Amino acid sequence: MQIQKVSLEKVIPLRHKILRKGRPLETCYFVDDNLEGTFHLAAIQKDKIIGIATFIPKELKDFSGKHMQLRGMAVDESAQQKGVGKQIMHYAFELLSTEGFDLLWCNARETAANFYRKLAFKQLGESFDIPSVGIHFKMCKQLK
Ligand SMILES: CC(C)(COP(=O)(O)OP(=O)(O)OC[C@H]1O[C@@H](n2cnc3c(N)ncnc32)[C@H](O)[C@@H]1OP(=O)(O)O)[C@@H](O)C(=O)NCCC(=O)NCCS
Repeated sequence: MQIQKVSLEKVIPLRHKILRKGRPLETCYFVDDNLEGTFHLAAIQKDKIIGIATFIPKELKDFSGKHMQLRGMAVDESAQQKGVGKQIMHYAFELLSTEGFDLLWCNARETAANFYRKLAFKQLGESFDIPSVGIHFKMCKQLK
């Protein structure tokens, strides 16, 4: 398996399948997908994208330093629980540290919060609802 940067269009099919299942394709595009500095990582096995994550240079309120927001984290159902998500994250930690980022944060789905906890993300505050997606926690990880 290889992890590399890919274009937005390459991550859309898996975003749709895993994160916006049964909803219109337009719902798979984030406002910040084309923000300067945003990039997308994919885990690729035998030419197939099996995992994705998007990184958006957005500040987290009340924290100092240089921040990146993680969005659109998804692993194909057939490849879940096999370390793919963890490998994408470790690749990102390394890359972001090298690029001088101090903190990675996300709005984690309640169902995935333990995945992030295992990667040393800390929960910030109480849970909140994102309509038609579900309960989330704001979480962050110091990169330095
Ligand atoms: C959450 C998700 C990205 C994790 O990726 P993955 O490749 O399945 O996870 P990994 O196999 O790398 O798991 C790493 C560790 O986290 C644990 N873990 C993974 N998903 C978990 C979950 N949903 N809940 C609790 N623990 C989880 C694994 O058991 C593993 O633990 P270990 O290190 O003790 O063995 C993936 O399961 C997924 O796409 N889920 C559906 C979409 C989703 O919820 N995305 C996140 C939106 S915020």
